[in-house]
Amino acid sequence: MIHARNFASGVVPGAEIVAIAEPMEASRTAAAQELGVDADSVYADYRELLENPRVNAVIVVTPTKFHREIVVAAAAAGKHILCEKPMAMNVTECDAMLDAVRAARVKLQIGFMRRFDVGFQAAKQRIESGEIGRVVQVKSLTHGPTTPKPWMYDLQQSNGPLAEVNSHDIDAIRWFTGGEFQEVYAIAGNYRSPDAVRGYPDFYDNVLLTARMSNEMQGMIGGAQGVKYGYDSRCEILGEHGLITVGSLSGNTVVSYMPNGAEHDIVHSWMNLFIDAYRAEDIDFVRCIREDDTPRATGVDGRAAVMVVNAGNQSIVERRPVTLPH
Ligand SMILES: NC(=O)c1ccc[n+]([C@@H]2O[C@H](COP(=O)([O-])OP(=O)(O)OC[C@H]3O[C@@H](n4cnc5c(N)ncnc54)[C@H](O)[C@@H]3O)[C@@H](O)[C@H]2O)c1
Repeated sequence: MIHARNFASGVVPGAEIVAIAEPMEASRTAAAQELGVDADSVYADYRELLENPRVNAVIVVTPTKFHREIVVAAAAAGKHILCEKPMAMNVTECDAMLDAVRAARVKLQIGFMRRFDVGFQAAKQRIESGEIGRVVQVKSLTHGPTTPKPWMYDLQQSNGPLAEVNSHDIDAIRWFTGGEFQEVYAIAGNYRSPDAVRGYPDFYDNVLLTARMSNEMQGMIGGAQGVKYGYDSRCEILGEHGLITVGSLSGNTVVSYMPNGAEHDIVHSWMNLFIDAYRAEDIDFVRCIREDDTPRATGVDGRAAVMVVNAGNQSIVERRPVTLPH
């Protein structure tokens, strides 16, 4: 709905929303009404939407396990695609998607909207200006306030928080270091989701991942779901000559962030923090299609993040560092 509202409100030059596919009737009706989409272009089955000649491009925002099927079908139908992160469940699926978009010569952009966030872009520019010298280490954390949705408990369907929450941190570390993840070691545990324990003993809502990058830089990711106190996204880029931080740092005082009040203003949702980034992402997706340009976050970037998710989950289960194939 964040993407849909951008297109419906006219903030994306050269594009408008003309159709919706949503299998759940209540969500479908509510979306159609709010977005003002004609009844004959509102579908329960995405395959019917792909036959609509008025549709030039699609935004894929289903749970991750459906991304491959829908992206491959959309490419075969000649539609350009903005697919939400995580790109897919594994590298085999990513490769099928990349093959499909190459064969159809359509754009595939992955929803790494932090690359469109003003703060993250400024950090990238400062790194490139040489302000802190060579990057040595990037630490990136994301703590989400909400309890995971039930489909996320099943790691076979969601790949867990490393995928759902930390795909953005994985992409930020690749973007800021300019390297690929070479070796990862991850530990994880379930501290806040008692509902998941019985049916899904493998589920974790807390994770730490350390990484050696291909260019010998270091990466570290912290992830948590259900923290309740707020939406917390912070990144530190340590260089030879200085440190760049993205996200708030409260000086050298000790500060507690609690659900029922804070000593500081707290961002409560990624929807608030990144609302401008989603708009810029949608605008640039349409610009890339119209000007035949390469998206800022491609399927190759999506694939690289999926590889790290899978290696991290393997490391958690096997309790050992995992080397990534390249
Ligand atoms: N970029 C970001 O920051 C960000 C934020 C939130 C979610 N996401 C990603 O977006 C995706 C969706 O997450 P969510 O939290 O919105 O999930 P959700 O479960 O809230 O919503 C998914 C929607 O897809 C619909 N759906 C399911 N199967 C479908 C199909 N075959 N065709 C059409 N619609 C179908 C569902 O009925 C539901 O309305 C996930 O991959 C998630 O990781 C990205």
